[in-house]
Amino acid sequence: MKDQTNQQTSINGSRSVPSESTGRGVSRRSFLATGAAVGASAGLGTFGRAAAALAQEGGGGALTFGDVAILRFLAAAEILETDLWQQYNELGGIQDSEVPGGSGSKRYIEALEGLDEDMSQYIHDNTEDEQSHFEFINAYLESKGAEPVNLDKFRELPSSKATGAQQIGRLTNLMELSVDTSYWTRYRSRSKNPDLGDEFAPAVPGLLKGKFPAIPRSDEDLEPEKHIQAIANTAGFHFAFIEQGGTSLYPQLVQRVSNAQVRRILLSIGPTETMHFQTWQDKAGNAPPLTDPTNGLVFPDLNETQPGLELEDTKTNLIMPEPTAFLNRKFPVCSIIRPTNTHGAAMGAVESLKKDGLFIGQSAAFFRVLKQLAAAADAARPQ
Ligand SMILES: [Fe+2]
Ligand SMILES: [Fe+2]
Repeated sequence: MKDQTNQQTSINGSRSVPSESTGRGVSRRSFLATGAAVGASAGLGTFGRAAAALAQEGGGGALTFGDVAILRFLAAAEILETDLWQQYNELGGIQDSEVPGGSGSKRYIEALEGLDEDMSQYIHDNTEDEQSHFEFINAYLESKGAEPVNLDKFRELPSSKATGAQQIGRLTNLMELSVDTSYWTRYRSRSKNPDLGDEFAPAVPGLLKGKFPAIPRSDEDLEPEKHIQAIANTAGFHFAFIEQGGTSLYPQLVQRVSNAQVRRILLSIGPTETMHFQTWQDKAGNAPPLTDPTNGLVFPDLNETQPGLELEDTKTNLIMPEPTAFLNRKFPVCSIIRPTNTHGAAMGAVESLKKDGLFIGQSAAFFRVLKQLAAAADAARPQ
């Protein structure tokens, strides 16, 4: 106890942490290690309430500030995922009691079926999964007395004007995307790993050379045929882009979780993102090669050797993670999720989604809140 008191003094410069804030079941050490970062980067009001909550030990024991911060960032990420998947479902999925809203776009669905005849079902199920993720995490946070995440005030982006979409405010923008398809070559590489500083070429370079819709913006986007197919192809590669992000994010963040039950939550949700990614990666490989006559966007034949790449870097049936370098190149190659480096993972996820164009039109206040949540999550340290 004496040591912990000393640490409190050395970090904060004073003994100012009220004892009721640290709560029963959370050590001063864990409070202090994360408390400094909380003060620097996140709303003290929120975390003050979370701190009070730390005293309320429910099933699974008390959470540290870091655990709360990680869960709150993941809740935000899942809310954003749900928002984008909801837009896909309204136009391209199945609208039912599980995932209500919208009435579908026949031409868009037909184009999606060019990738797989079950696309609508998969879109529906992915949407439902994301909704269950954020609802669960928020309910869990509440059960611990911590504040759940609500981004409703930022639902200000416009909906697609295409027939089938609801006209409501959105958090994300699916109509000006620059999809980074380097995940495709990253998971096919036999020697490179982003955690070792390696970089990867996009499989569909054209998707980075402009802002492209992944849903029809209006009914005018439903023809010509190659244009709506290009929109469906963009969606196909975007589905996998989103889910490979979640595939890395959970293993990245779980390394800094303290509480065993929170660890279990991350280890149970994360692999479902991987199941999504694996499915979408397989489907995107079926996207018909074409050039969009309206904007020149090219979807190359990935089963032919692409400039600067080997056939194994793009071949569509190579959907199992190719063994590659892991931790240190002195070890034998290993089939792994990549990246999994935990440093700056939450902020990295925000930046990646921003570059994707998903937040085009969002307010400065939105980015401020998202970055505060990410910074707090990245400041978490395992106790
Ligand atoms: Fe999710
Ligand atoms: Fe996901």
